[in-house]
Amino acid sequence: MTNSSIIKVNNLSKLYGSKEVLRVAEAVVRRGYITGIIGPSGAGKSTLLRILNLLEPPSRGDIFYYDRIVPTAKAEVMALRRKMTMVFQKSFLLEMSVYDNLAYGLRARKLPAEEIKKRVETILETIGLATQRKQRANTLSGGEAQRLAFARAVVLRPEILFLDEPTANLDPANVELLERLLVQLNQDCGTTVLFVTHNLFQAQRLTHDTIFFCQGELVEAGATEQIFTAPHCEQTDAFVRGKMIY
Ligand SMILES: Nc1ncnc2c1ncn2[C@@H]1O[C@H](COP(=O)(O)OP(=O)(O)OP(=O)(O)O)[C@@H](O)[C@H]1O
Ligand SMILES: [Mg+2]
Repeated sequence: MTNSSIIKVNNLSKLYGSKEVLRVAEAVVRRGYITGIIGPSGAGKSTLLRILNLLEPPSRGDIFYYDRIVPTAKAEVMALRRKMTMVFQKSFLLEMSVYDNLAYGLRARKLPAEEIKKRVETILETIGLATQRKQRANTLSGGEAQRLAFARAVVLRPEILFLDEPTANLDPANVELLERLLVQLNQDCGTTVLFVTHNLFQAQRLTHDTIFFCQGELVEAGATEQIFTAPHCEQTDAFVRGKMIY
């Protein structure tokens, strides 16, 4: 793993109407590490992920990927987009079979048929949906759909993976399964992960770095151990101890 940054943010701001929902003076995501984003509901966590994933433009500010400012040429934006994948808070699946949901992105990336088959079969086994490969995705249970949405992103082996509460509403065994997959992807492929979670135990378990947001403001960022054991800000301290009132 390297210590270089993969994403840098400068003076970022997002307004919806006249309401500023996100303000980040400066933030850095280290390449090859798992970074957790924590903070109360409405703090701007999902908004930040959407902006970093190039789904929404910021109202103000600059974002750098690999030390280069976001390109404006369409082909370059597309190339950058392909390096990144997002699993949304409200998972959405394609109206096709479980198998095709997993194969779709790999086919779009024009991977060889053999490689697609191998990757899809392997992940189907891992997430326990091998016998349901022909089932329509929209008939899966909530937990199965969530596992599939997660696997669809993992199977692409992106350089950057954005996850917005991917394990909320899952039973403990499935939480553990997805966490293992995530760590494996990070270790084997060097994938950089940005991970929003409300589960502070999970954040401590999985992440190397942590960013804490409150009311749209980046309050504190640093090594996960420091944020949870010796935070610099009172607000962070209150939040990680579960004592923040909001
Ligand atoms: N499209 C939009 N139009 C207007 N306001 C929005 C829009 N999207 C988000 N917001 C507002 O921006 C603020 C931040 O929302 P965001 O979804 O980023 O919060 P969050 O930290 O992800 O919260 P949660 O933990 O509940 O998912 C909220 O007050 C939300 O209502
Ligand atoms: Mg959210």
